[in-house]
Amino acid sequence: MSLDGQKVVIIGGTSGIGFATAKAAVRAGAQVVIASSRPDRVDSALERLPGTALGRVMDVTSEEQVRGFFDWAREFDHLIYTAGDRPSVTELAAMDIAYARQAFDIRYWGAITAVKHGHRFIRPGGSIGLSSGTASARPQNGWTLVASISGAIEALARALAVELAPTRVNSVAPGMVRTELWDVIPEHQREAMYKRVGQASLTGRVADAADVAEAHLYLMAQSHCTGTTLVVDGGGLLV
Ligand SMILES: NC(=O)c1ccc[n+]([C@@H]2O[C@H](COP(=O)([O-])OP(=O)(O)OC[C@H]3O[C@@H](n4cnc5c(N)ncnc54)[C@H](OP(=O)(O)O)[C@@H]3O)[C@@H](O)[C@H]2O)c1
Repeated sequence: MSLDGQKVVIIGGTSGIGFATAKAAVRAGAQVVIASSRPDRVDSALERLPGTALGRVMDVTSEEQVRGFFDWAREFDHLIYTAGDRPSVTELAAMDIAYARQAFDIRYWGAITAVKHGHRFIRPGGSIGLSSGTASARPQNGWTLVASISGAIEALARALAVELAPTRVNSVAPGMVRTELWDVIPEHQREAMYKRVGQASLTGRVADAADVAEAHLYLMAQSHCTGTTLVVDGGGLLV
């Protein structure tokens, strides 16, 4: 899969799936531009990427910052959106509705804001890759918000594929992925969670960020998929 001479913008490219996608895109010949909200994370990611990579601090909850970011980044070929925060897991009876509304801010409203201001800079033949998750199809107890956000993103990808055609718009839906997202859980509990979820899947392990990055890379490099969701879950939806 070659992205030779292409430019890839990754919002959330400083950690986890976004950072793995940045590394994979560089290996495929692309120039990458990454963004996220914390300066230390942007600096650290740039130190670990080749010198051609560019990065900038940008908070997707600020439309002003998103507009400014794309005015700076200018023309590019592919927009990958992996910005996200910790999943909001709560049962309905205990749900704080004001907090629940905010749960959509980064993953859903942030994606809309990024596409709104970024798509005009996408060159012919380019694409947009959003981030959903298999919770949309197989929620667990208390995963109402996570499932709703993921489902909304998959619907968003289909709607944008129609509205922004011929720019292709897709989403990638991982099951559980071993990334910094889960670092809030103490290590021994985290490893036990990975083991339990991995053993329950058909591949016998949870995904690494690189597994999901390959899916984003595929959707960028090929030329005819649009409005689709690519599931990367080791068969987790089947068991
Ligand atoms: N890991 C999983 O098991 C899993 C499973 C299914 C779906 N997903 C989804 O996949 C996406 C990527 O997940 P991940 O595991 O790679 O997460 P991650 O390692 O925590 O990375 C999240 C990225 O989002 C950025 N970000 C957070 N808030 C931001 C904001 N306000 N503005 C701009 N950037 C922001 C973070 O950087 P800063 O902190 O610097 O802002 C970071 O670069 C998320 O939408 C996640 O919900 C993950």
